[in-house]
Amino acid sequence: MTKDRLGFGILGAGLVAPFHAKGIVHADGGELIAFCDLDQGRVQRLATEYGVQAYSSLAEMLADPRVDIVNVALPNHLHYDAVMACAAAGKHVLTEKPPAMTLRETDAMVAACRQAGVRFGCTVQCRVRKAIQAIRGAVEAGRFGALLHADAYMKWFRPAEYYRQDAWRSLRRAGAGVTVQHAFHYIDLLQYIAGPAARVQAQMTNLAHPGVELEDTLLAFIQFTSGAQGVVEASTALWPGTDVRIEINGTDGTAIMSGERVVAWQFREDRPEDQEIRTYGSVAQATGASSATAFGFADHQVVIQDMIDAIREQRDVVIPVATVRPTLEIVLAMYQAAARRTTVELPVTDDDSVWSA
Ligand SMILES: NC(=O)c1ccc[n+]([C@@H]2O[C@H](COP(=O)([O-])OP(=O)(O)OC[C@H]3O[C@@H](n4cnc5c(N)ncnc54)[C@H](O)[C@@H]3O)[C@@H](O)[C@H]2O)c1
Repeated sequence: MTKDRLGFGILGAGLVAPFHAKGIVHADGGELIAFCDLDQGRVQRLATEYGVQAYSSLAEMLADPRVDIVNVALPNHLHYDAVMACAAAGKHVLTEKPPAMTLRETDAMVAACRQAGVRFGCTVQCRVRKAIQAIRGAVEAGRFGALLHADAYMKWFRPAEYYRQDAWRSLRRAGAGVTVQHAFHYIDLLQYIAGPAARVQAQMTNLAHPGVELEDTLLAFIQFTSGAQGVVEASTALWPGTDVRIEINGTDGTAIMSGERVVAWQFREDRPEDQEIRTYGSVAQATGASSATAFGFADHQVVIQDMIDAIREQRDVVIPVATVRPTLEIVLAMYQAAARRTTVELPVTDDDSVWSA
């Protein structure tokens, strides 16, 4: 490979696109080449702001030889077709979460990218937070002893306008709902830290968005195969919204992340690095609790930088979609559990009725 910088094209010029754009602009060895969106106003606005090309069809952007990597930032139900087209065109892909709506789509995308020899990563970017890396490292080092609890509390707020802003945000068949759309990140962290999951129970309700036919609140229980258990409380109904808490407890230790900060870090055996870990994260950094755009781009930047480095170093990305499949499986199991009012054992197979419920 002789190019100095790898070219990125961002597919979808909506809410999350600027976070990808800033991540690319600030990464070493990357260059933003184009945005692509059906909405001319949106794509022109961002293309002008960043001084790059505007495309109105993916086929056109894929034909641009300067584009090496496509960031898929479309509504959730449109990821699959886009990723398959990128793989067929030999482009590396970084898709937004959830990677797709079903396990069979996810498996087909992973297979297509493998066959095409392209990297296929996912922006479940909370994984790269220093606090989460420290927790995962402590799990791997056995510092928690036996894991007992892995919990996520996402008490967020989104106003009614958020759901009206774009039609897909309030459509079940487009992959909307607090479980798959917002809690996905934090369910992902639980499976990344404490997975795999063995069974789930879930209850979904709409507490504060009467005009929207979706759950705005999830209460769920996860039993992990390790013997650990966990709860997920996730809502966009709880004004004004507070930082997500991830709480991990074992026989020998407890760690809590709030927002991106480490707010508890205690083990029976202290280590020299613990003092620094207790300072991780900034209270000033918003992480999305009260607004869909109030968060930083630093985590996206890390994932984008990793994509560049992975291609250069001929290795896989740090968050391959295959490692996010178990998160989608837990999410699908939660929808099935809520619909059937029963405990659902994993593994599950696709039940397309969850997207038409
Ligand atoms: N990682 C995160 O923290 C994070 C945050 C927000 C959103 N997301 C994810 O990003 C994705 C996009 O979310 P969003 O909030 O930016 O949505 P959005 O509705 O604001 O933007 C999506 C854009 O895609 C465009 N589009 C639709 N179909 C298209 C097509 N066929 N070709 C080209 N453009 C098309 C729409 O016109 C729209 O501008 C979703 O998967 C969402 O889950 C992730």
